[in-house]
Amino acid sequence: MRNVLISPSILSADFARLGDEIRAIDQAGADMIHIDVMDGHFVPNLTFGPPIIEKLRPHTKKPFDVHLMIAPVDPFIHAFAQAGANILTVHPEAGPHLHRTLQAIRSAGMTPGVALNPATPASVIEPVLDDIGLVLVMSVNPGFGGQAFIESQLRKVEQLRRMIDQTGRDIILEIDGGLNAENSPRAIAAGVTAIVAGSAVFKGGPTAYADNIRALRPSVHA
Ligand code: DX5
Ligand code: ZN
Repeated sequence: MRNVLISPSILSADFARLGDEIRAIDQAGADMIHIDVMDGHFVPNLTFGPPIIEKLRPHTKKPFDVHLMIAPVDPFIHAFAQAGANILTVHPEAGPHLHRTLQAIRSAGMTPGVALNPATPASVIEPVLDDIGLVLVMSVNPGFGGQAFIESQLRKVEQLRRMIDQTGRDIILEIDGGLNAENSPRAIAAGVTAIVAGSAVFKGGPTAYADNIRALRPSVHA
């Protein structure tokens, strides 16, 4: 099995101690830090924006994998770059000009990503494959942590794996929502190269983070 990146979602962290939580998952073996930005409009929940991300930036050198669930996106791209985002992932439904948004993300110095909701087909990214560094498959409907994994999304992962392999480019294929030690081997077998997990990483508190992250990695199940 291929090696995968683990990107813990701080949506499940203790919001009163976010700096400590980020240092704890960094030391526990996280490869990236997944930051879910929600606006209460594109998705029915509210989280955090650029000022909080900027304050978190000094707490780790690991890449900030920022997942935007906001509409519109374009007016905020510069602010996320300034705050220290490395990957900026958007939903195609968030605006009328996906290609323009991806170009703007790239020109701001970040890696552009596209997130696909459970009902959004893989084919949406075909015209923009050359413009992105990451595809994120939502295996829950976006908005909340702790939801049940939608098994049918593994077929979309397989489809995207084939599409990405055809490009010959090293595009990260990430899955997000309901991942745990039981289903992560299936996601990896289907072709993902990055796993987002919120509740499965943060359960049990800081002393459990290293074991929780290890349990999501393929070597444990190989
Ligand atoms: C949902 C978010 C996910 C979420 C995952 O909208 O995009 O990143 O935090 O949480 P779990 O792993 O608990 O499903
Ligand atoms: Zn997310």
